[in-house]
Amino acid sequence: MGTEGYAETYAASSEDPEKFWLNAAALVDWDVPPARALDDSRPPFYRWFPDGRLNTSFNALDRHVLAGHGNRTALVYDSAMLGTTRTYTYAELLAEVETFAGVLHSQGIRAGDRVVIYLPMIPEAVIAMLATARLGAVHSVVFGGFAAAELAARIDDARPDAVVTASGGLEPKRRVEYLPTVAEALETAGHRVRAVVVAAREGFAHTVREFDGAGGGSWADWAGLAADAQPRGPVSVAATDPLYILYTSGTTGAPKGVVRDNGSHAVALAWSMANIYDAGPGQVMWTASDVGWVVGHSYIVYGPLIAGATTVLYEGKPVGTPDAGAFWRVAAEHGVEVLFTAPTALRAIRRADPELALAAGYDLSKLRTLFAAGERLDPETYRWMSDALGIPVVDHWWQTETGWAICANPMGLDPQPLKAGSPTFPVPGFRLRVVDGTGTEVTAGTEGNIVLDLPLPPGTLATLWGSDERYRASYLQAFEGSYATGDSGYVDEDGYVFVMGRTDDVINVAGHRLSTGAIEQAVAKHPDVAECAVIGVQDSLKGQRPCGYVVLKAGSSVTEVDIQAALADLVRRQIGPVADFRDVRVVDGLPKTRSGKILRKTMRQIADGEEFTVPSTIEDRSVLDALVPLLRPAVQREA
Ligand code: COA
Ligand code: AMP
Repeated sequence: MGTEGYAETYAASSEDPEKFWLNAAALVDWDVPPARALDDSRPPFYRWFPDGRLNTSFNALDRHVLAGHGNRTALVYDSAMLGTTRTYTYAELLAEVETFAGVLHSQGIRAGDRVVIYLPMIPEAVIAMLATARLGAVHSVVFGGFAAAELAARIDDARPDAVVTASGGLEPKRRVEYLPTVAEALETAGHRVRAVVVAAREGFAHTVREFDGAGGGSWADWAGLAADAQPRGPVSVAATDPLYILYTSGTTGAPKGVVRDNGSHAVALAWSMANIYDAGPGQVMWTASDVGWVVGHSYIVYGPLIAGATTVLYEGKPVGTPDAGAFWRVAAEHGVEVLFTAPTALRAIRRADPELALAAGYDLSKLRTLFAAGERLDPETYRWMSDALGIPVVDHWWQTETGWAICANPMGLDPQPLKAGSPTFPVPGFRLRVVDGTGTEVTAGTEGNIVLDLPLPPGTLATLWGSDERYRASYLQAFEGSYATGDSGYVDEDGYVFVMGRTDDVINVAGHRLSTGAIEQAVAKHPDVAECAVIGVQDSLKGQRPCGYVVLKAGSSVTEVDIQAALADLVRRQIGPVADFRDVRVVDGLPKTRSGKILRKTMRQIADGEEFTVPSTIEDRSVLDALVPLLRPAVQREA
């Protein structure tokens, strides 16, 4: 805990952001230190540290080695799937990253080029990200639970020169062969990549084969290339140059490529490690997420390493690998001080081990704080976990777009009393308001749209890849001068923020952000489906799950059971297994407005047993009435 208070730090960040963030910039090593903090010459697009130059992988690795900490542990890879652990010191991780940067360089990758990384939770994922950053190139990590079509969509948008993948991943119920998925994605994508580098995993088919790359190409073996590679040093880039693109789900089926820059990202993460997580050099932070999500980017990879801390990369699940004691084993074995996970993981543990009996045999004395994000930490799970562990359980709210927490309890400043269901207060740099549909601020306790005043602080999205206009239209147009978070909530009389849910068609299934629009697009591909609506309904384990309501084409004779299985399979192949799309009902019609808009919000409210309002513009009320009994049981399923 620091000596400075939250209130004065927040005030300093609002009163003189320029000074505040220039001070924070001293937390990272620059090739050319920035003389200015903010470039506000092109509103509503703002850039931080416009004249600074640095390299992010240098900040994550070299500088710690140069400071004499090469023997400190940088990365602990703990695979519950294999029952193995491997540690890398900073010097060892640097050597791996320098070498793989040499591999990428040998494949023609240069500053500004894109590299798509599609890997399971193995050290190669961290190494590939840092090696790409070392060359000043731009990575785009695609979560391994996404199917070929989603990978292809990202390849077409990011237009990478190389794809880095592995021969296989391990899931509790199956082994995941990556190469057929990558091959399918490369075949269906319009864009042609030059190189595919494959990390071989024991026991998986690893076929070095030809592919139809730009100018012809073949899959290359990571280890084979690494044996001949010349280590590469860090390439100096502008602070405003992109470090990565991370795709996230929006309202439409087309994923949005959130662009993160190098300089402000490094500064924001360094600041957050000290002031939000209170985790510094030599301390152990474990973020039980996946490198394919923003949480993994920021707090498995970049945040802990920039801070000189030890990060844990966990290949496994909270339950079933082998049991609900897995988190406590990992925390005890690696001396974890700060643990970060998703509420859905805590609910899964609670369901399997309500008394936390499986934690009893482990020494958790080092564990200081448990952070949760990805969805709202529901008060019941919060109370259960706080009582069982006896340490602060801190909900904090953020999004792929912001890259770090918008609201949190600043454990490195003066921790504030926690309130169940609230991620506490806005983080310094974020100026938050709750407004109604017209943009007028609402009173304390009234729910509305949560907006953030521009400019957003360092570390947040610079734009959407390839389209400033889409960035503006998606986030900046609804409320002039502000960024629309897409979340609704309220601020109570003590200033605590409560984030209650999305205002759009984004859903959160077991901490995985998905678009119901994208699922609808997949469902609509089935030849028997005339039209469909997919809504997210409450789920006691996963937070939400998608439910589909389909109208069959006239003359179709397919049964409900058959269409259910066919659509589950279709969504699995089009989006990925994480969508967990199992609930499908065949209906006679979908309720619509007179202009043809499906009343998804009303449907969701009915399914969740909430008060619902029927818009006066409804086309045919009897269609909705007929649907009500089919919607209500949607909440009954046990996950
Ligand atoms: N690669 C391939 N497949 C994957 C995958 C990956 N990286 N991640 C998940 N899947 C698959 C699973 O194998 C499963 O497939 P199946 O239907 O064949 O069994 C399916 O996707 C659903 O998996 P999951 O979402 O993990 O649900 P689950 O019911 O197996 O487990 C939880 C439930 C709560 C234990 C699990 O979802 C979990 O640990 N969630 C935490 C997620 C998280 O940390 N998110 C980060 C947000 S900060
Ligand atoms: P993602 O971009 O995948 O991180 O998902 C971001 C969305 O998840 C947010 O817009 C919220 O809807 C939700 N979310 C994440 N963390 C929280 C939280 N702590 N409380 C409430 N909602 C959250």
